[in-house]
Amino acid sequence: MGESIYGMKRTHRCTELSLANTGETVTVMGWAHKRRDLGGVIFVDLRDRSGIMQVVFNPQNSAEMFTKAESIRNEYVLAITGLVTKRSPETVNPKLSTGEIEIMVKELRILSRAETPPVQIEEDSDVNETVRLKYRYVDLRRPDMQRNLTLRHRVAKIARDYYDSNGFLEIETPMLTKSTPEGARDYLVPSRVHPGKFFALPQSPQLFKQLLMVAGYDRYMQITKCFRDEDLRADRQPEFTQIDLEMSFVNVDDVITINEGFIKKAFKEALNIEIDIPFPRLSYQEAMDRFGSDKPDIRFGLELVNISDLAANCGFKVFSDTVRNGGSVRAINAKGCGAKFSRREIDSLVEFVKIYKAKGMAWIAVEENELKSAITKFFSGDEVKAILDRVKAEPGDLICFIADKDEVVYDSLGALRLELARRLDLLDKNVFRFLWVTEFPLLEYDDGDKRWVAKHHPFTSPMDEDLLYLDSDPGKVRAKAYDIVLNGVEVGGGSIRIHMQELQAKMFRLLGFTDEQAWERFGFLLEAFKYGVPPHGGMAYGLDRLIMLMAGKNSIRDVIAFPKVQNASDLMTNAPDIVEPKQLKELHIRSLE
Ligand code: AMO
Ligand code: AMP
Repeated sequence: MGESIYGMKRTHRCTELSLANTGETVTVMGWAHKRRDLGGVIFVDLRDRSGIMQVVFNPQNSAEMFTKAESIRNEYVLAITGLVTKRSPETVNPKLSTGEIEIMVKELRILSRAETPPVQIEEDSDVNETVRLKYRYVDLRRPDMQRNLTLRHRVAKIARDYYDSNGFLEIETPMLTKSTPEGARDYLVPSRVHPGKFFALPQSPQLFKQLLMVAGYDRYMQITKCFRDEDLRADRQPEFTQIDLEMSFVNVDDVITINEGFIKKAFKEALNIEIDIPFPRLSYQEAMDRFGSDKPDIRFGLELVNISDLAANCGFKVFSDTVRNGGSVRAINAKGCGAKFSRREIDSLVEFVKIYKAKGMAWIAVEENELKSAITKFFSGDEVKAILDRVKAEPGDLICFIADKDEVVYDSLGALRLELARRLDLLDKNVFRFLWVTEFPLLEYDDGDKRWVAKHHPFTSPMDEDLLYLDSDPGKVRAKAYDIVLNGVEVGGGSIRIHMQELQAKMFRLLGFTDEQAWERFGFLLEAFKYGVPPHGGMAYGLDRLIMLMAGKNSIRDVIAFPKVQNASDLMTNAPDIVEPKQLKELHIRSLE
């Protein structure tokens, strides 16, 4: 290593040293992790990015260095030259990879002093996250944060290598651009040169990557920032990173296959975990029917069961009326929970589903010789038996029912399924279950705005067999779209695109744009579609989310070096912040605040 500081040159990172170096004089540099004074000898755990090495100050070797070492405090930055020495058997520390050796210090330089750090440099710090983020540079010294960022680097590197070896070119697309419709609010950048005009930061490179296909680049990838001004959650940041890609002359299977290859390689090389490919595929409808979610967690069962046909004519009006009004009645058999949950716990589930707009949750606790339930009295014996058979009930089970319009049933039972899994401890972070969800609806009806909106984005191709419904029954049209889901998290998504100008123009009309508005916003795309467009498709991974799951974390903040908090601010730099009036004036902006 090349550094030379006050005449000292670092020769090794701490954990690059081992027994093999015994007898060598080496120079290491890093932070004082811990200092112990033991009977006239001072031991310091020196820490750098690689880990820890014990260094020893013995007055018999150098009285001067020993005296200097007495002033060392935690997080002082030190340069040390000394002799690598084998530890005696009784002093070996099996917890350290360098535990069989230590460095007998000949020369110490204190490169900088430090105040007591606001965050302890230790695994899984329980310090409040606000403090961690304010002092992020200290927080990032902690070993788990180092591991997360190292993993992130590894996966990004594997992605570049993998896609490169499959003929993809990494091409950068602009950050100062025109608004792209991924469905969130844009971050805007005022133009000084064009008064009253704004750039939008890209919500994704979507249109540019399609134009690269028009330009003949065939296979594109980019690891890039995307910006979306939306409400933050544990898996959402206002700026986040995508592994973005696009391919020409491909169908859904081609995109899926190449990406399964990437996931397999990333898990093998970064975590030494074998992922079986191909991944299971579920249509959107099947995912909703079985899991109540378009991003199902398939690490566990507890699937939804439709009992609408059995409930249609029963004596429980909540159920029969719902079915008559076009809704459904569905159930989850919470295996073993009848025996396991107290009445209070069951009541808390009823409260839980109400968060998801369910009006209630009927239930049957199945016991060896009887059924505990408030609703069985409304059913005949045969009806109850048919329901219990349908959900494969056994003694000890708890059958939970929700009757409502499909949307509410899916939402509440989907959430209940996850809640049950949490309570039953079924969510093993070391298990990675991928799947593809395909055949999404092309459009969604926005009840508020009273118009159709694109479920994915307006450039997604309808499925050929559904084209005939585009005018008559738009809600029925499925898209050539796919999401990649890992353990209940949407880690990526994409589609085959529309590549015919007429169909794209029609799509914009369906979404309520007049031809003039469509040309105003997307004219450059429609224009490009005049000059020869290859059929194309692609997808984008949320890199932060993928790494979060690979690292076994619950928040993407833990895999981003400098993330923002809930209210989209940066606690360390205090961004966003006010600016000089002069700057605003130059930008032709007057603040109303
Ligand atoms: P989409 O909008 O689905 O698709 O985004 C792709 C993936 O990016 C991740 N993601 C986010 N991660 C963190 N914070 C956010 N705010 C955030 N928003 C999205 C998700 C998501 O699956 N242009 C299309 C891709 C394509 O069609 O090729 C797009 O951006 O993991
Ligand atoms: P009620 O007749 O309102 O007292 O409800 C009887 C039982 O049915 C209670 O356990 C309610 O939680 C449940 N219940 C009420 N509405 C629904 C619904 N829409 N779906 C499922 N169960 C319901």
